[in-house]
This record gives sequence, structure tokens and C-alpha cells, in this order.
Amino acid sequence: MFFIANVSPRSTGKTTNSAWMSHALHERGRKVIGFDADDSRQFSRWQAAGTYPFVVQQAATSAFHMNVPQMIPAGFEDGIGVVDVGHLEDHKGVGASVLRLADLAVINLPPSMNDVERMEELPTKEFIQDTAPLRPDSQPPATWVLLCKAPTGVNEIKQVREYLEDEGYNVFTTVVPSVVKYMRTHEGSDIQAKGSVFDELVTEMEERGLLP
Ligand SMILES: Nc1ncnc2c1ncn2[C@@H]1O[C@H](COP(=O)(O)OP(=O)(O)OP(=O)(O)O)[C@@H](O)[C@H]1O
Ligand SMILES: [Mg+2]
Repeated sequence: MFFIANVSPRSTGKTTNSAWMSHALHERGRKVIGFDADDSRQFSRWQAAGTYPFVVQQAATSAFHMNVPQMIPAGFEDGIGVVDVGHLEDHKGVGASVLRLADLAVINLPPSMNDVERMEELPTKEFIQDTAPLRPDSQPPATWVLLCKAPTGVNEIKQVREYLEDEGYNVFTTVVPSVVKYMRTHEGSDIQAKGSVFDELVTEMEERGLLP
């Protein structure tokens, strides 16, 4: 199974983005399992409301890297696991465990220098890199920043992108706007990712060769 770990230093939109990203992958014909690696259990409650066409397993444990490979149902070995990781400022143990397995780490980041500071203070990039010796190939996972909850018509988005790229981050071209459609994601809400920015994100991931 190919694991995408949605991480962030603090609350930024990870669960919302995990829900939409996993629907977008499913709608594009991928076999998807969601993994809820946050004690708040929001992602699994959203799925339990019954509208999701795939399962979300609870896995908020710092033994994620040991337990989850045993939880993958037959037929899903070539699927994609979308992991909603509890925010790293308070969930370092779970985060480090997920990052031991992750094939792609997505840093969910609102495009404000305030959020950039929180990301650097953790420090998030180093946290991801420090998991390398614990991984089978001793390399950190591919790591990309997803700018999300972005207000429209604000110059700061361009400035944040330029800053991040100068600092050596990979930044997705696709940006998740701050809109009511995504804000309203909750238990029982209906998600149609086709035509949404998350469908574009899957296209970008494929074009960049980030997905298997
Ligand atoms: N693209 C968006 N546009 C508007 N509102 C959004 C968007 N994404 C998330 N939100 C809102 O921002 C808040 C935080 O989102 P979410 O719960 O997904 O973040 P999180 O990173 O999972 O937080 P936590 O770490 O606390 O679990 C929620 O109120 C959500 O509705
Ligand atoms: Mg969350």
C-alpha cells in the first residue's frame, strides 16, 4: 500500500483535505483506505456517518508503522492509504510512526507567514527528515507543501510560495481555496471530488510522478 501522510504543525485543514483527497483518488479509480491517526477521530466519524464509498480505519497510535501493515485487507496491497495525522505539535509519537511508512508526506499549510513560522518552529521539515534512519530505504519520504484554506485575491500566497521554494520546499501548484464548500465538510456531508480542486491535485500528483 502507498501511504500519503497529511501532516501539519497545528490545525490547518488536514482532516478536510484528507476527506476530499481520498474521495478524489477513489473517484479516479484508485483503491483507497483512509487512516485516522488523530485521537480526535474526526476522519473516522465522518466516514462512519455512512456516505463514504471506502473505509477509514482508526489508527491513532505511535505503533502505526507496526500495526497498520497488518490491517490492510487482501486486494488493497496496490491501493492508496490516505492518513490524517494528528497535528505534530501535540502528536509527535504518532506522527513519527506514520512517517516511518509514508511514501508521500503532504504538509498542509495555509499561505500565511504566521503558519510558515509555526511550521519552521517545530521544525517540520527536520522532523520528517529525522525519520529517515528508521525507514526501510533510510531516505525521508517525498515531501510536498499543499497550500490550503487560501483566501482569494491575496498577494501573500505568491510571497509564501516564493519564500518556501527559496527555502527548498516542493510546493504543489494546486492551491485549496478557503471556500464554504470545503468549510462545510462534516459528518454526513456529501463529497463529490470530480471537478473540485482535489481532482486537480490528483492530476498534479500523477503528472509529477508522485503516485504509483
Ligand atoms: N479549504 C477550506 N476552506 C474553508 N474552511 C476550511 C477549509 N479547510 C478547512 N477549513 C475549516 O478549518 C477548520 C479546521 O479544518 P480541519 O478540521 O480540517 O483541520 P485539521 O488540521 O484537521 O485540525 P486538527 O489538527 O485540529 O484536527 C474547520 O473549521 C474547517 O471547516
Ligand atoms: Mg483534524
